[in-house]
Amino acid sequence: MNIILVGFMGTGKTAVARALARKLKMKYVDLDDVIEADAGRSINKIFAESGEDHFRYLEKEAARKVSSLDQQVVATGGGVVLDKQNMKNLSKNGVVVCLTATAAVIYSRVKDQSHRPLLKVDKPQEAIKRLLDIRQPYYARADFTIDTSEMTAEETVSKIVKMLNYANKRRV
Ligand code: S3P
Repeated sequence: MNIILVGFMGTGKTAVARALARKLKMKYVDLDDVIEADAGRSINKIFAESGEDHFRYLEKEAARKVSSLDQQVVATGGGVVLDKQNMKNLSKNGVVVCLTATAAVIYSRVKDQSHRPLLKVDKPQEAIKRLLDIRQPYYARADFTIDTSEMTAEETVSKIVKMLNYANKRRV
C-alpha cells in the first residue's frame, strides 16, 4: 500500500512526504523528481521548451510508473489531480491524503521560490486564488484532508499517522 500526498503548491507535500516516509520506514518518491529524471530536464525547462500539455503527458507517465510500486510515500505535483486516470492509477494501491492551506499561507511559502512555472506570472496571488478555485473539487476527492496552514511538517505527519491508524482500526 502506498500513501499519496496531493494538494496545491506550497501545502507542504514534499516536506511532509519525506518526514512521513522516515517515520513509517517507507520509501519516499517525488513525482516531479521522477518527471525531471526521465525527461533529463527541469520542470521549468519542460514548461518553457515544450509547454504545459507536454508536462502533463510526462506527469501521467510518471504517475503510471509510480503506481506499480509498493510501500512508498508519494509526493505529487499540485496538478496531478486534474487527470482522472492519474488518480485512478495512484489510488489503485494507495490511500490519498490531501494537504490544504489558505491562499495567503500558500503565497507566503512560495513567494521566494522560483521552480514553479505556473506562479511565474505578474500577479502570483491572483493565479493562486484562480487555480485553487478551479482545483478545489478535484482535491476534495481525496480520502483524507489536512489543513497545514498552521502546522509544521512534523505535526502534519503525526496527524496523518493518527488518521491512518484510526481508519485501519475501523476497517477490522
Ligand atoms: C504544478 C505543481 C508543481 C509541478 C508543476 C505544476 C501544478 O509541483 O508539478 O510546476 O500544476 O500545480 P508542486 O505542487 O510540488 O509545487
